[in-house]
Amino acid sequence: MTSYQRKYSLAPQALPRVQTAHRRIVTPLPVPESVPLLEDLERLEPSSMQGQPPILIDRSEGWHVHDRWGNMWLDWSSGVLISNVGNSSPAIVAALREMLDRPLLSTYVFAHEKRLELVGLLNELAPSPDYKTFLLTTGSEATENCIKLARTWGQRTRGPDCRYFVTFENAFHGRTMGAQLAGGSPGGKGWLGTPDETFVQVPFPDGYKNPDTRFELFLETLAARGIKPAQVCGVMSESYQGVGPDFLPADYARSLAAWCREQGALLIMDEVQSGFCRTGEWFAFQHYGITPDLIACGKGISSSLPLSAVIGRPDVMELYPPGSMTSTHSGSPLPVAASVANIRELRKGGYLQNARAMDPVLRSGLEALQSRHPLQAGCVHSRGLVAGIQVVLPGTRTLDPRAALAINEACFHKGLLMFAPVGVAGECIKIAPSLDISREALEEGIAVLGEAMDEVLS
Ligand SMILES: Cc1ncc(COP(=O)(O)O)c(C=O)c1O
Repeated sequence: MTSYQRKYSLAPQALPRVQTAHRRIVTPLPVPESVPLLEDLERLEPSSMQGQPPILIDRSEGWHVHDRWGNMWLDWSSGVLISNVGNSSPAIVAALREMLDRPLLSTYVFAHEKRLELVGLLNELAPSPDYKTFLLTTGSEATENCIKLARTWGQRTRGPDCRYFVTFENAFHGRTMGAQLAGGSPGGKGWLGTPDETFVQVPFPDGYKNPDTRFELFLETLAARGIKPAQVCGVMSESYQGVGPDFLPADYARSLAAWCREQGALLIMDEVQSGFCRTGEWFAFQHYGITPDLIACGKGISSSLPLSAVIGRPDVMELYPPGSMTSTHSGSPLPVAASVANIRELRKGGYLQNARAMDPVLRSGLEALQSRHPLQAGCVHSRGLVAGIQVVLPGTRTLDPRAALAINEACFHKGLLMFAPVGVAGECIKIAPSLDISREALEEGIAVLGEAMDEVLS
């Protein structure tokens, strides 16, 4: 039993049959046979692991997710923005099989050739060929490492007073200690106890939740806290905030980059979610025309197994001597092989082209839904193949997580799979299909979302 109220009911609900090329719902949901298994998970795991639509995934291929009772969902989750090249990409499966057959399953930081191949590929994506790449396992580890490097950089270049690490309100950088200190949700920091005044959050210029998009607000906020520019060792931002997706205005991003350069503070872009062609560029910071000093990567870097990376300026990446910035699974052969295959797939170009080609299809489709529900579909943001609808109480900007969840669940019942709504309060219906989704499948998904919104919001 969970000690918290369930987001999604586990009582099977009879549903109209769905049968299209992309969706098949032939049982009640949740599937009655799956309920005892879902309940076992509730019993054996902490409640924090609950909260997604009650599906027991059996296999996933391309942009389809299957259970073992004949149901199939059109996948608009990509896990959680992981499988950019599609679920269980045959190229990745083949690369893994080759590594399994060799066999080579673990290496620590002993050298192996696939690792060389991967860091070579990642360095080719960097803003400059002399950047270096450090491999890790999770996105949180990558952002933690960026914090460590920025703090060390500040101490070494300007002394102990240069210790402030600046991030943005509503930011998400992971769930480990440094990542949550840097995160922009006060709710995530309660467990940290005494606030750490050297981690500072400034308003994010999203234009909706915060209409003030002037770069001067950044400077004003630091000044109001009594922080001098020379005391800032680094500024980290997601290239788009996951709660939206909320993008920085390009002129704000450029002013921020120029300010960091002038002050000697590191500019760090968290691309864990936005990287690897998701927004129609390899990295979302490219939309702004800026050059980060450090780039945190994860998720779509492998489209599958756990792997993350920090790609950074050589003088920053060289701050630590041999053996002092490593991890047991840095460069683990299977995730590395998966990532190499993933990047080689992405480099063929079709995914990037499709993300760009589908950009107007997704955007205009969602804007049409917004115009059907102008009072409740408060804000629609979309770029490439990531989008979000922030649902609000009619005619207000008061976030409405209840309606967002009901829409998400109605989509699940119709064979369209999204992870649970995100956002500041769970008000954001987030859309993130794999980057090769066909126009026809994307349009089918938009129509299904429209039906769900009509049912819930009308
Ligand atoms: C922007 C961003 N940074 C960091 C993370 C943390 O990554 P992980 O969950 O792999 O630790 C996430 C995960 O959602 C993310 O979206």
